[in-house]
Amino acid sequence: MRDQAENLRQMILKSREQASHLKDFYKSPIIKQHRSSKAQVFAVTSGKGGVGKTNFTVNLALALTNLGKRVLVIDADLGMANVDVLFGCETKYSLLHLLQEEIKLEDILTEGPRGIKYMSGGSGIYDLANLDEVKLQGIINKITLCDKLADVILVDTGAGINRNVLNFVLAADEVILVTTPEPTAMTDAYAMMKAYVSHHGTAPLKLVINRVMEAGEGQTVVNKLSQTALRFLQLRVDSLGFVYEDMNLVKAVKRQQPLLLAYPNTISAQCIEKIANQLLNRQFVAKNSGIEGFLSRFLNFI
Ligand SMILES: Nc1ncnc2c1ncn2[C@@H]1O[C@H](COP(=O)(O)OP(=O)(O)O)[C@@H](O)[C@H]1O
Ligand SMILES: [Mg+2]
Repeated sequence: MRDQAENLRQMILKSREQASHLKDFYKSPIIKQHRSSKAQVFAVTSGKGGVGKTNFTVNLALALTNLGKRVLVIDADLGMANVDVLFGCETKYSLLHLLQEEIKLEDILTEGPRGIKYMSGGSGIYDLANLDEVKLQGIINKITLCDKLADVILVDTGAGINRNVLNFVLAADEVILVTTPEPTAMTDAYAMMKAYVSHHGTAPLKLVINRVMEAGEGQTVVNKLSQTALRFLQLRVDSLGFVYEDMNLVKAVKRQQPLLLAYPNTISAQCIEKIANQLLNRQFVAKNSGIEGFLSRFLNFI
């Protein structure tokens, strides 16, 4: 097989040069301000399904927005995409629609609450691997503009340790692994860490413990998982924090609203705000490689 990685690098380089047809878009003031920076890409994942990834993702997006960050959420749960359900917005297009010449990046981005941008990865994302170079180049040219629109990109992945999920996880700048204190969820979280290590994952991996009854319970889960990972996988995992079990979150879901909008003053909403604060105020952060880096790594893996 010809060196696909090299091919891809060349294409991404070319895309930077070829973006001249998007001049008007580049001229908008919001893009001018942040031209040089690249977004930081977080994958939000879990071993077990239903542990609260999507709710955590949309609420973290809101918390980061409240702190002045421009956030893009990519729904990459190919089986059960439901970021749009929680944002209460509808999407017409997904990533692969960019193949159509007349469809621009803005067309596939939906505006969620407080100006958060939302994009559906759509199950067609794996078809990217089968595109010819010209078509792939076309998509890359358009998608790399995400780096001008967002400071943080949150990728909500599916659950489980299959390749479909792992590819997103391996491609991110940082990984947020969500679990609950249930032994089944913890076992599956450990299985995810094991798969991550065996696929040579290198990005920092952080734990969020969701649905805890009290702070001590969160700490116990963190201790167990981080000690086991260090001992058996030589993997260092730190904790970003925990989120309380909260009936208000369930009520908010029923109203199709993120918790931070429906019940911003609850203690679990404050937990998520604390996590957002911590993410932005760390001494050591992973390198931001932006959507460009994310996409090229993702394509390398598939
Ligand atoms: N902190 C929480 N407190 C109470 N219920 C929660 C909490 N987090 C999640 N849930 C429940 O779990 C369900 C599944 O959450 P979701 O974010 O869709 O999980 P995932 O994306 O991991 O499949 C929610 O609809 C809600 O009922
Ligand atoms: Mg989900």
